[in-house]
Amino acid sequence: MRVGYLQFRPFFGEPERNIERILELTQNIDFDLLVMPELSNSGYLFSAKEELKKTAEQVPEGRFCKAITNLSKEKNAYIVCGLAEKSADKFYNSSILAYPNGETKLYRKIHLFNEEKLWFEPGNRPFEVHEITVDGKKIYAGMMICYDWLYPESARTLAMKGAQIICHPSNLVMPYCQDAMYARAIENRVFTITSNRIGTEKNAEKELFFTGQSVILDPKGRYLRRGPSDEEECFIVHIEPAMALNKKMNEHNSIFDDRREEMYK
Ligand code: ACM
Repeated sequence: MRVGYLQFRPFFGEPERNIERILELTQNIDFDLLVMPELSNSGYLFSAKEELKKTAEQVPEGRFCKAITNLSKEKNAYIVCGLAEKSADKFYNSSILAYPNGETKLYRKIHLFNEEKLWFEPGNRPFEVHEITVDGKKIYAGMMICYDWLYPESARTLAMKGAQIICHPSNLVMPYCQDAMYARAIENRVFTITSNRIGTEKNAEKELFFTGQSVILDPKGRYLRRGPSDEEECFIVHIEPAMALNKKMNEHNSIFDDRREEMYK
């Protein structure tokens, strides 16, 4: 199975330009599953709700969402992409999983980071795992967004629900996550794909630098890729997702069977 990420530099408040850039960067690339950054339609550093109102959109009928779904159809592949979502009068920091048949699944970021709490509602749906089919084989994938990494429960919940691949759209500003994903991969024996953005964003009060270095890990904690910190790239690697079905560490330990839930209270 061919999986990968698109690492790019979203233009703040310009969803149309972001669609164009995504189409350019994926033009000659084939894949089965591609993960794109958090808030790929809107950019990150909001100063006012008005800015969010202009770019956030409804899923699945919004223009950006439709463009991603069309790309998924055209590539006959699955795409996970972060976006600012509007639902009734509320906003969520969300991601979609687009299916080549036009269907979409939705995740809303559960653990909001810093000033995101000023703009977005925290996710109101539990972590979910979705069945996808590649080369006639059923594979299970789940989504979490950026700062969700700091809560090991996020990846653990997805893995315990059967996720073989954790898709992780991100806008990372701290330097820890790319290393921490090593633990998320080995402690759950799953593949992880962290798609981070690059570039800087500035408003009157602050400037944020996004750290790039998107990472793909396998269930044994091997880095299949750690991308550059300041260049756009679409990187694809071949994986064998069945590797994530084996939860045995050795003859006597199986990671989920050995959990002692009664001792964790
Ligand atoms: C983050 O959750 N975007 C740091």
